[in-house]
Amino acid sequence: MKDGTDAQPLPTPGSLDDIWESVWDGLEQAVASHRHPWRLAALATPQPDVRNVVLRHADRWAGTLCFHTDLRSPKATFVPGPLAALFYDPSEKVQVRVQGQAEWADEAARRARWTSSRLSSRKCYLAPVAPGTPSDKPTVNLPSDLSGRDPTDEEAEHGYPYFGAIVLKVATLDWLKLAYSGHIRARFTPEGATWVAP
Ligand SMILES: Cc1cc2nc3c(=O)[nH]c(=O)nc-3n(C[C@H](O)[C@H](O)[C@H](O)COP(=O)(O)O)c2cc1C
Repeated sequence: MKDGTDAQPLPTPGSLDDIWESVWDGLEQAVASHRHPWRLAALATPQPDVRNVVLRHADRWAGTLCFHTDLRSPKATFVPGPLAALFYDPSEKVQVRVQGQAEWADEAARRARWTSSRLSSRKCYLAPVAPGTPSDKPTVNLPSDLSGRDPTDEEAEHGYPYFGAIVLKVATLDWLKLAYSGHIRARFTPEGATWVAP
């Protein structure tokens, strides 16, 4: 080839299978570690809109990611439906984009996600009004008797009706690794995996 497209030495990214496994390793680590950069996803809805959400669960065998949200929030209106999530690790210089169909977790899984979350997280669901509701003054949208403390288990339970667990079934996954020697990109779809131009 004389067109120069392959003139640069390529980084050694491993096989497509290695990349797939490394992505799920990273997502599982992010669930376990607050410090992992993939802990925070940008979750995009079709309208379009995008917002930060915490990655709460990753299941490589099911191919699913889980995010928690208030059922009254605007993003909840897009579930079930197609969603996308975006992750970036600046130290590894790896971007991961996933797209898929989102569903609500079934009741058993929803209860398990609720029980495994901290009381400080469950506190958010005690908000008296829906996220995004206009207010004539600055508001934390929490009951005043919970100021400066976490709810008890019993108090937190009042928020459970508003708690939703979004399960995103990953259909396509786009992996991009930035490198001085040249960026490398791979795409994973139900049809298979392929390298793609970055
Ligand atoms: C660091 C960070 C983490 C957040 N985590 C969540 C989350 O896990 N779930 C959630 O519903 N909102 C989370 N939010 C708030 C959302 O970004 C958003 O403001 C809120 O959910 C309302 O979104 P909506 O109006 O698009 O529904 C987080 C915000 C930040 C800045």
